[in-house]
Amino acid sequence: MILSLVNVKGGVGKTTTAVNLSATFAASDLKVLLVDLDPQGSASFSLGVQRDDEGATLADVLLGGAPAREAVRASEVPGLDLLAGSIGLAGAELALARKRAPERLFERALKPIRSGYDVVVMDCPPGLSILTLNGLAAATGYILPVVPHDLVHEALDRFFDAWEGLEESLDARPELLGILLNMVDKRTLLTEEMVRQIRKAYGRAVFRSEIPINVRLAEAPAYGMSIFQYERWSPGAHAYRLLGAEVLRRARKARLL
Ligand SMILES: Nc1ncnc2c1ncn2[C@@H]1O[C@H](COP(=O)(O)OP(=O)(O)OP(=O)(O)O)[C@@H](O)[C@H]1O
Ligand SMILES: [Mg+2]
Repeated sequence: MILSLVNVKGGVGKTTTAVNLSATFAASDLKVLLVDLDPQGSASFSLGVQRDDEGATLADVLLGGAPAREAVRASEVPGLDLLAGSIGLAGAELALARKRAPERLFERALKPIRSGYDVVVMDCPPGLSILTLNGLAAATGYILPVVPHDLVHEALDRFFDAWEGLEESLDARPELLGILLNMVDKRTLLTEEMVRQIRKAYGRAVFRSEIPINVRLAEAPAYGMSIFQYERWSPGAHAYRLLGAEVLRRARKARLL
């Protein structure tokens, strides 16, 4: 399975979910590669790559044509490898756009190493930039994390509208594995009402598992750890374990795994 975490909106938990889902998959004895397609490099940072790290990154692969294998590194999590993102990708849109089939650069780069993994998870930047399109073009499935608040419907509709046109021109049909409700605060009536509305509008497309607001999830990245290394019995870790199992069930049903 090649899985992308996408949303036009920023700050909804794409990175948190990419990192922690990758860790649950690895804990389920799957061989996992986490790819950081975001020039902010948050997923790499979350797994302990320092900001001044000088190792090879995705920028070397996409811009410099280096083989992906040379940019892959092992993480502290057994079974989880990382293809680090880099600041070198910031402002690279133009350089990428000048290449042949720029939205397929990553798919091509991934091909020689793909068979070494059961699951590839891609953390995309917010928006539908060329980097995100690379993530979607290479994907067999994608997850849309959302934070339940009053503008969620607009954000989701905006994504689906934009994606509908792109899907055809990209000739890529990754399966929507699910919409993920993140930062759910059950103590507020507003959140509860929004969760109800989103579930009603999108039905089975919404994962049954929800991720609660849990400060441990926000703290773990600063220690370069997944939530399972940082605080394995926290509500956030529990929620991601359940989500991981649900994602794998859906993926198997859709024959992505
Ligand atoms: N369930 C949660 N509980 C508490 N904090 C969370 C939760 N999910 C995410 N966060 C925090 O919210 C912030 C945004 O999350 P994250 O970076 O995962 O979102 P993103 O969609 O990847 O953002 P961007 O679009 O900037 O890449 C981060 O500081 C993260 O630690
Ligand atoms: Mg992110």
